[in-house]
This record gives sequence, structure tokens and C-alpha cells, in this order.
Amino acid sequence: MTTIQWFPGHMSKARRQVQENLKFVDFVTILVDARLPLSSQNPMLNKIVGDKPKLLVLNKVDLADPAIIKEWQEYYGKQGILTLLINAKEQSTVKKLTDAAKRLMSAKIERLQKRGIKRETLRTMIIGIPNVGKSTLMNRLAGKKIAVVGNKPGVTKGQQWLRTNKDLEILDTPGILWPKFEDQLVGLKLALTGAIKDNLLPMDEVTIFGLNYFKTYYPERLLEHFKGIDLSEDEPDIIMEMTKKLGFRDDYDRFYNFFVKEVRDGKLGRYTLDRVSDNNGND
Ligand code: G4P
Repeated sequence: MTTIQWFPGHMSKARRQVQENLKFVDFVTILVDARLPLSSQNPMLNKIVGDKPKLLVLNKVDLADPAIIKEWQEYYGKQGILTLLINAKEQSTVKKLTDAAKRLMSAKIERLQKRGIKRETLRTMIIGIPNVGKSTLMNRLAGKKIAVVGNKPGVTKGQQWLRTNKDLEILDTPGILWPKFEDQLVGLKLALTGAIKDNLLPMDEVTIFGLNYFKTYYPERLLEHFKGIDLSEDEPDIIMEMTKKLGFRDDYDRFYNFFVKEVRDGKLGRYTLDRVSDNNGND
């Protein structure tokens, strides 16, 4: 788990690093967590990346709600943003990403071909907030375990390219950007998925948020998983009841940790915490 402390100096350094590297790449691969298509994005992404072609990759699809992700794909599709769903742990990701890169850059490739210029290998850099799976994806694309000089924004060193195949190369240093941590709701969502450290937010608040979210959108899963739960009660009452039922006596901290772990481990099924309908156009 990441230990980045984001101070204004780190943020401008991270931003500068990404922007310096933009000129070396054909397109940017923006990696987000499919459980948080919006909340796991950097709030200044569009400003930072500017006009560079973007591929928005929703990772961890194995954990996310397929119906909601489909809505996000349609949403971004309408904006002309190409999206790709992956599980970075799977080998099929390599072909998926290479194909998407070619699709994204097809107009440019064609233009070059018409002028008699042979298409060169496409180059990209992977950017995203901590924990979205950048290292996992880079290792998968490089086909070997590479040491990502991660978790310290602004690390600069000699440019190196990791070769995926004849069509795709990736910059060896990912762009690590910060989440929208000033937004309390975003913080709760990041905490519930395990994207930020547990001690950053009170676990009782994370649990109440999670319980409420599942109560609203996936009540049948709660009923199935926590036998005897009474969803007509308020969250604090449910917590008291469930803590007792689970045999934790009055150890509520134990229940918070238990509940959050069950959600993170996907024991309550696949979920997505950002919904297109909640998004008031702020992306
Ligand atoms: P980062 O570089 O962006 O910070 O993220 P990193 O690759 O370290 O991935 C963060 C966590 O997410 C890792 O789990 C990693 O295994 C997991 N992960 C990455 N991609 C996927 C995916 O598509 N599906 C699922 N289910 N998990 C994914 P970890 O618990 O921190 O480590 P470990 O379980 O790999 O030991």
C-alpha cells in the first residue's frame, strides 16, 4: 500500500513530471479503478494532459459492477473518449491494450502512411493515482517483473522504454498523480476500496458509508451475506445488531474492519461506487 504524502510541492512536481514526459509519447494511458471511474481520477487530469490523445483504461473490472461500467463507457463514448476495460492481472490485457492503442491512433497512422511514412511503434505512458494498478499493468505489458520506481511522485531519471511488442512501448516511469482528496465523499470511496490507508479516515464513517451504499443499491446482497440483518433500521442500529450477531460482543471496531474487508475482498459481490447519474458534469 502506498505511503505518499501529497503536499503542494509534491503535486506540482508530479504534474511537471507528467507534462515533461508528454512530448515523448503518442498517447496517454489513464488508468482508473473500475469501481471508481471518477473518484480514482486526478482532479486536474484534463489540464495536465491537454490535447494528447487519451485512452481511459478501467482496471479491476473483475471487482466492478458490469452494468454501471457499461453506463460509464457510454458516457465517455459520447464525449469521444475511448475506454477500455481490463483486469491487469490477466494476460489478455496485452492484446486488448495494443488493439485499443492502434484504434486510438488509427487516423494518425493512416495520415503518416499516405505520406509514405512507415508507422513506428506507438509509445505511451501510464498515469493514475496510487493503487489503481499501474505497476501490475506495466509488469504485464513488459512481460517481466520491472522495478517501478513508484510511490514517490516526481522521480526523474533517464528515459527508458519497455517493449510490449512491435506495436507498443511504454515509458518505464508511471505518472503518479493525486486523488481528489479534498472531497470527503471521494475520500470515503477511496477508503472503502482500500485505495488509501486505513488510518486516513475513521473506519466507522467508512463502514456507515459502505453500509448505506449497499443498502441503497445492493440490498439483496446485504440480506444474503449478513443473515438476519434488518435493513429498515438506521446504519448505527444495524451495526450494533450485526456486531452482536457476529459474536463480536460490543467490539464495534472489529465489525468495521470485518465489514470493510468483506467489501474490499468482493464478498458482497462486484460493485461500482461512482454512478453516471451522480456525476454533475464535473470531470
Ligand atoms: P499502483 O502501481 O497503481 O500503485 O498499483 P499496483 O499495481 O501496486 O496495484 C494495487 C493493488 O491492486 C495490488 O494488490 C494489485 O495486485 C491489485 N490489482 C491490480 N490490478 C488488478 C485487477 O485488475 N484486479 C484485481 N482484482 N486486483 C488488481 P495488493 O493487494 O496491493 O497486492 P497483491 O495482492 O498483488 O499482493
